Amino acid sequence: MKLKLTVSIMIILIVFLAWRFIRPMNIFVVDDRFAWPVDTAQAPQSITGLAATDCGSCHQAFYEEWQMTIHSQAWTDPYFQRDWHFEDAQPACRLCHTPLDVQLPYKVVGYSDEDKWDPIVEENPSFDPVLQHEGVTCAACHYRDGKIVGVYGDTDAPHPVRKIEDPNQVCVRCHIVDGDRWDTFYRFPACGTVAEIQTGLAPRSAQNIDVRGSSGEVAVSETGVLGCVECHMPLVMRPLVEGGVVRASRQHLWRGGHNVEMVKSALTIEFAEKESQGQARRVFGLTVTNTGAAHYVPTGTPDRHLTVSLRLLDEGGEILSVKNHTLERTVMWRPLIVDLQDTRLPRGEPREYELEVGSDTGAVQVEAEIRYHLLAESRRERIEYENRTPIDYEVFRQRIPL
Ligand code: HEC
Ligand code: HEC
Ligand code: HEC
Ligand code: HEC
Ligand code: HEC
Repeated sequence: MKLKLTVSIMIILIVFLAWRFIRPMNIFVVDDRFAWPVDTAQAPQSITGLAATDCGSCHQAFYEEWQMTIHSQAWTDPYFQRDWHFEDAQPACRLCHTPLDVQLPYKVVGYSDEDKWDPIVEENPSFDPVLQHEGVTCAACHYRDGKIVGVYGDTDAPHPVRKIEDPNQVCVRCHIVDGDRWDTFYRFPACGTVAEIQTGLAPRSAQNIDVRGSSGEVAVSETGVLGCVECHMPLVMRPLVEGGVVRASRQHLWRGGHNVEMVKSALTIEFAEKESQGQARRVFGLTVTNTGAAHYVPTGTPDRHLTVSLRLLDEGGEILSVKNHTLERTVMWRPLIVDLQDTRLPRGEPREYELEVGSDTGAVQVEAEIRYHLLAESRRERIEYENRTPIDYEVFRQRIPL
């Protein structure tokens, strides 16, 4: 009797795991924070439309900045498009990359599954392909319930304004991807930056929000302490419209992994000989610390990673030997989702890599190099993404003569 039961359980388990291998799990749960497209039915009459060009006709400087950013390319970005088609063009992806109802070719009227990956849809007569191509457009952040969201609330705007206390509230909708589910074992939900910011800082008057990692920890309880806007939208004094009052305003730049200077600003790097151990054996140390970002470096999609190479070079600059390290997040995606290992840099924790040089190597120089990778070459090949811009670049390189 007992044996039969054990065998039955084993069979069920094996079938279950095999099925999960063939049909892997959705990589996240579609959380209620972003499950529903932004309803734009009551767009303000006082402005011509919700397109970035409409806003830009008055807020030109903002338009020009936005246009240079990855937010404006969240839909057209060739890497996104390739990846999305590789992932069977899942509807869930649109919810953050094109979050307005008018950006979707269909209306979402409900969901037929618990994870909300399977929307029940209807025809969408107000679908606007021009807006779709604007990706994370002005209205994605600024339009709510017939009003334009802003931080002042006392300007001479021709459109109705809803004042928000804390601008970081805006970022949460898309920069947290939740994964709360019994069969998912994330330390942090995949792709989100928010949950990585753990803080016990003094509370501010921001709206409370409950951001949880699936292991149950509350990472952040107030948006005010997230600081996204402070780091990603530099402060500048300027008018909001041509000829307007000069105000404390924020540049719409959102620099991140695509910007070498931004990545450099995240890291404090030191490469030097450690206390001399005598000529027979010299030891060099490379210390890397995340001093510039509140979240991990790298952050965002698990594709992002850093590589560290420590090399011995001969007279001609040829490599005699090399030690490589990767700073990345390794997730097992099937049969269950398990966060296996995370070697990225949490804020403020120095990481040291050593290179030993014996006297008989023939080396005349040691070299340290750090590179940032938007995605791995192996993944690029697998999804057949023909990149026109580089997928990795140098963040640091230094040589020390022996
Ligand atoms: C017809 C011109 C015009 C258009 C079109 C327009 N705005 Fe404005 N907007 C203004 C003016 C004028 C102000 C107030 C400037 C001031 O007093 O400094 C303003 C203020 C704002 C503010 C600050 C509000 C506050 O009180 O915090 C935001 C945010 C804003 N606009 C966003 C947008 C967005 C997004 C769009 C497009 C959907 C848009 N605007 C379209 C003219 C316009
Ligand atoms: C409507 C959803 C949405 C909102 C709201 C949003 N983002 Fe994003 N953000 C995205 C998407 C999608 C991408 C990635 C686009 C791509 O690479 O295809 C992105 C990318 C970024 C990047 C990465 C740039 C790079 O080089 O890879 C930064 C930084 C960023 N966002 C910061 C912010 C901040 C700060 C806020 C709040 C003010 C915010 N975002 C609000 C959806 C959003
Ligand atoms: C990813 C989200 C996001 C997008 C997209 C976005 N904004 Fe903003 N915008 C913000 C946030 C957050 C603030 C508040 C910054 C602060 O604290 O002053 C803001 C502020 C503003 C202000 C008020 C002045 C200021 O700097 O505070 C204007 C005007 C404005 N945005 C216009 C635009 C226009 C026009 C577009 C499109 C071309 C746009 N925004 C796109 C997030 C966004
Ligand atoms: C103390 C400054 C600081 C704060 C606070 C901060 N960031 Fe960053 N962020 C950085 C720096 C520096 C980088 C570049 C290094 C990197 O890519 O990790 C970066 C990178 C990013 C990227 C790029 C990821 C990619 O795939 O290219 C995103 C997205 C991002 N931040 C979003 C956010 C959001 C959302 C918040 C708020 C929850 C936030 N950041 C808070 C400094 C900050
Ligand atoms: C909850 C909002 C959200 C959803 C849903 C979402 N994304 Fe994103 N996506 C983001 C944000 C925010 C970023 C930028 C931060 C980062 O690098 O992870 C991003 C970045 C990306 C990037 C990196 C683009 C680049 O320029 O390097 C790819 C590719 C991507 N997403 C694909 C997808 C696919 C495919 C899906 C559906 C399976 C999806 N996303 C669903 C928010 C989302």
